[in-house]
Amino acid sequence: MHNKAHRTDLMQAAQKAALKAYAPYSNYRVGSAVETDIGIFTGANVENACNNLGICAERVALANAVASGASTIYAVAVCCLDATKDNNGHFFKEETMPCGACRQWLAELAPEAVIYTNASPKGMGLDELLPNAFRIPGS
Ligand code: THU
Repeated sequence: MHNKAHRTDLMQAAQKAALKAYAPYSNYRVGSAVETDIGIFTGANVENACNNLGICAERVALANAVASGASTIYAVAVCCLDATKDNNGHFFKEETMPCGACRQWLAELAPEAVIYTNASPKGMGLDELLPNAFRIPGS
């Protein structure tokens, strides 16, 4: 299902989405794109003066997809535009990984998805990101 062209397209969509981030407090722009049964949906982080009310790009993209009628999410790309680079010019992987709250959202809405970040082109599964996730059986 997931070839390289797909992955590159999805990351490009995430990168474009990051340009719409509302991140005046952290100046850390993040975009996310999810590939679903009905197309690609995107999101960006949206912060708030009351800091803890901000929301990550991944959850905005997931909510956008689900609220648009998507029923299956195959892949998720995350692009942290402002992540810092090491001496070799590679982004620090930890800076681009989904946060714990987003992992729980992924476990709920995209449990089978492959997850890419701009520092992790290899792709990761939810089993790796959030083992033993909380779930309600049958949902
Ligand atoms: N952020 C995301 O949108 N996604 C991530 O994967 C990591 C962090 C946002 C939250 C906050 O607006 C900013 O990045 C800095 O923490």
